[in-house]
Amino acid sequence: MQRQPVPANVLALIAAAALGAGLVAGCGGTQDGGVSFARDVQPVFDAKCVSCHPVSFPQLDLRRGRAHAELVRVPAATNLAFQRVLPGRPELSYLLTHPPDPLLVDLVSDAERDLIRRWILEGARDN
Ligand code: HEC
Repeated sequence: MQRQPVPANVLALIAAAALGAGLVAGCGGTQDGGVSFARDVQPVFDAKCVSCHPVSFPQLDLRRGRAHAELVRVPAATNLAFQRVLPGRPELSYLLTHPPDPLLVDLVSDAERDLIRRWILEGARDN
């Protein structure tokens, strides 16, 4: 009896499925590849936000060591119906849905917005 080699397209499918499972598993985990609040997100605030937060708008302090507690599950001061950051729901997080400072819409680059979006999707952890 002749043994058939596994066709390449089947191997590719198996590899893709394994990769997909790995990505999904990585979302809730602490493995490399996840966004780190301290390493990735806070530096954006340090560079672009702390000049005004808290000085110009004391209700929101984005300095290191304070920003996470001021954002996650905290109602927005300018619209109490929304939380500043709702873990897992970037589309409902005021930080991203309401351009915080209409005069400063270009302050954050697309890459930085995407980073913050991923951080919220991954659970907005204080990691
Ligand atoms: C030039 C000053 C200035 C800078 C820089 C600035 N902000 Fe603001 N921000 C304000 C002021 C003033 C308000 C309140 C009035 C308003 O909503 O426009 C505000 C409001 C906000 C709000 C809404 C807070 C709430 O509870 O209603 C968020 C969120 C916010 N800013 C995030 C940021 C982020 C993130 C950055 C950096 C990427 C940033 N801001 C940079 C001045 C600033």
